Amino acid sequence: MAGSPYQTSYRTHTCGELRLGDVGKRVRLVGWVRRKRTLGNLTFIDLWDRYGITQLLFNPQVNPEACRQVEDVDREDVLQVEGVVRERENKNPDLPTGEIEIVVEWVRVLAKAETPPFTLETHTDGGEELRARYRYLDFRRPPLQRNLLFRHQLLQTTRRLLTEYGFVEIETPFLIRSTPEGARDFVVPSRLEPGKFYALPQSPQILKQLLMIGGFDRYFQIVRCFRDEDLRADRQPEFTQIDCEMSFVSEEDVMELFETFVHRLFREMLDVELPAFARYSWEEAMKKFGTDKPDLRNPLVLHHFPLEWFQPTELCILQRARSVVGILLEGKAFMTRKQWTRLEEVVQREPVGLPGFLAVAHRAFHWFYWGPIERFYSEDQVERWFKAVGGRTEDALLLFAQSPDQSDEEFMEKVGRARQAIAEHLGLLKDGFHPVWIYPFPLFSWNADENRWESNHHPFTAPFAEDVPLLEGEAGRVRARAYDLVINGVEIAGGSIRIHDPQLQRKIFQLLGYSPEQSEERFGFFLRALRYGTPPHGGIAFGFDRLCALMLGVSTIREVIAFPKNKSGRDPMMDAPAPIPDSHLRELKLQIQTE
Ligand code: AMO
Repeated sequence: MAGSPYQTSYRTHTCGELRLGDVGKRVRLVGWVRRKRTLGNLTFIDLWDRYGITQLLFNPQVNPEACRQVEDVDREDVLQVEGVVRERENKNPDLPTGEIEIVVEWVRVLAKAETPPFTLETHTDGGEELRARYRYLDFRRPPLQRNLLFRHQLLQTTRRLLTEYGFVEIETPFLIRSTPEGARDFVVPSRLEPGKFYALPQSPQILKQLLMIGGFDRYFQIVRCFRDEDLRADRQPEFTQIDCEMSFVSEEDVMELFETFVHRLFREMLDVELPAFARYSWEEAMKKFGTDKPDLRNPLVLHHFPLEWFQPTELCILQRARSVVGILLEGKAFMTRKQWTRLEEVVQREPVGLPGFLAVAHRAFHWFYWGPIERFYSEDQVERWFKAVGGRTEDALLLFAQSPDQSDEEFMEKVGRARQAIAEHLGLLKDGFHPVWIYPFPLFSWNADENRWESNHHPFTAPFAEDVPLLEGEAGRVRARAYDLVINGVEIAGGSIRIHDPQLQRKIFQLLGYSPEQSEERFGFFLRALRYGTPPHGGIAFGFDRLCALMLGVSTIREVIAFPKNKSGRDPMMDAPAPIPDSHLRELKLQIQTE
């Protein structure tokens, strides 16, 4: 029997390989029973493996024994068959193997399967939790097959490209001291030093910087990171980064190289030609889109009006408004009342949660108003607002007022979400991928609850050199040499140029509230390393799961992770986390406190 490259002692070919050219060959296949049907005294079985599906024909005139043996065979049983390839009478144009079938002469049941708790088809009757508990069965469905094979390809392409750019893959440890990225650490108790703990890395940030001090020049690692934080569709407690670091680079060098890298990934993986990346500073993005993760598929932008254009007025919401933001909807002046009501519901519902909006629409010969605008403002005033945002006949302008009890951050965040929800509701999102660099960022933000500055990225991010004097007293105005890459509203990567001067690093720790003793205790080894000839350096890390999900167009990263945690951070299959035996706790000198 002539075999294929996939030949083993069990099979000559896979279930995806045989074609018309193989007719007449004697072959041996193995796989899972996906479907079984009978037609008169003939039995047909679709045999599945990850390479494809091949139709088997059991004919009592050819081999009555084989027919008898498959009488009890059911979905997902594992079969080994031998037979001859022949041309099919009823060809299936949807399958690459659809022109042939195997006339089975010999069969062996290698394993029986219990009935799967859900159908193993693209559209399954199984809910997410059930599928997660039987993840190994979910793997046999086309979506997970496709996603994990794509992920494999993306890993290989990433390695190849980064190696081509001169990056060296170096593995860093998981049992380390805390490397802060703004989340809680997962910790591992030490048996040999009771009462002490390792922290699992939130990222290899410090370690990759040490590799630059060590002279490696360009490092990368496709690495698991661990963060004990609240989960969302695009957040897992353990996730994978493409982590990179480079010496002797500016932020422009890093952004340029990784823009090329992303262009090549999309070209090679999806045959997609990405546009040149847009770029907005954090302030611009917040102002224009109400978020630092703007979805540039969305053509809507936020317009900020001078408050005095609306005042004085008796119209309560505008009289009390702390600011007014507008969104122009091109060509939407002729929406029906019902459509306006629905649109207002969209901004009132979660995740937006605004009280509503006022609107004016230019309907050729008259104005249409949503809300009691006509009673309080003249047409000239309305026209002024409208013209200021470039409004034309047939356009509509929505106005959102910031109420006195809303902080600027809260209001802009909600208007930003309204921008997105409205565009989605009206079907305004453009196709394709729309990448944007956000650069620069403010170095710190103020944590009002704890009354202290916090790093917006991590404490190793370099400030702009000319802003260093502002660290004394005006820390909120210091700009960071940090950049995020956002594609279609998803933060795909983040990075920065790092501090390479130990004095400046100490100062930043101090500003973040560490006493000199605390910095020494936590980061002494790192501050020491910085004293031994540290090259200027910087880098970036990509959320690999997010990149994969984005490229595949799936809505959660759980779809591209083999064994993800569920929404509550549990592994529903292994049932983790789980208690450990008392003896183990005693060995670790740990006590569980129960209230
Ligand atoms: P940052 O914290 O921005 O930077 O992380 C880099 C990228 O990792 C992804 N990401 C996540 N993906 C899934 N689940 C999570 N919980 C999660 N958290 C982050 C995001 C993010 O853009 N050391 C720095 C990088 C650097 O400065 O070089 C870092 O880790 O896509």
